[in-house]
Amino acid sequence: MLSPSATTIRIFLHVLFASVWVGGQFALAGIVPAVRRASPGTTKVIAQAFGRVAWPAFGLTVLTGMWSLMAVDISAASSEYQGTVLFHIAMAIASGVFAAVHTNGKSKAALAVGGALGALTALAALFLGVLLRSA
Ligand code: HEM
Repeated sequence: MLSPSATTIRIFLHVLFASVWVGGQFALAGIVPAVRRASPGTTKVIAQAFGRVAWPAFGLTVLTGMWSLMAVDISAASSEYQGTVLFHIAMAIASGVFAAVHTNGKSKAALAVGGALGALTALAALFLGVLLRSA
């Protein structure tokens, strides 16, 4: 069997927290319509409970991402790799900003745009992360 290294742990933790942040949003989106039908008043409580799991996971994704930035010699990497890292980080930050707009927005537009763009940018960050690894 292959032996794990510090890189294995670093990537494992980054992907673990990222999967809670990204996958959790899609799981919640699938559950909410059923919750709304069964018990309309409960949706807010479920969303708040999800936030208590998702935001720490987002923070830990950022922290482990910074760990990766220190571990990988970005300055020696190709300009394509550097551009992809920048795009990856920009999408990750955008996913946090749009999720915050979705959570705190008062209008229906803020809710819809924040939710849609939050999910889209989170998916983009995930895809670009995997693209980095396959470089
Ligand atoms: C929505 C947030 C994020 C998601 C979904 C995400 C996802 C991923 C994934 C799936 C990988 C590939 C892991 C693998 O090798 O199999 C990755 C790699 C990476 N991520 Fe993220 N990430 C996010 C945020 C961040 C942030 C905020 C940073 C920097 C501050 C960052 C920096 C990196 C770096 C440098 C790598 C390459 C690591 C390496 O190849 O050793 N990520 N990310």
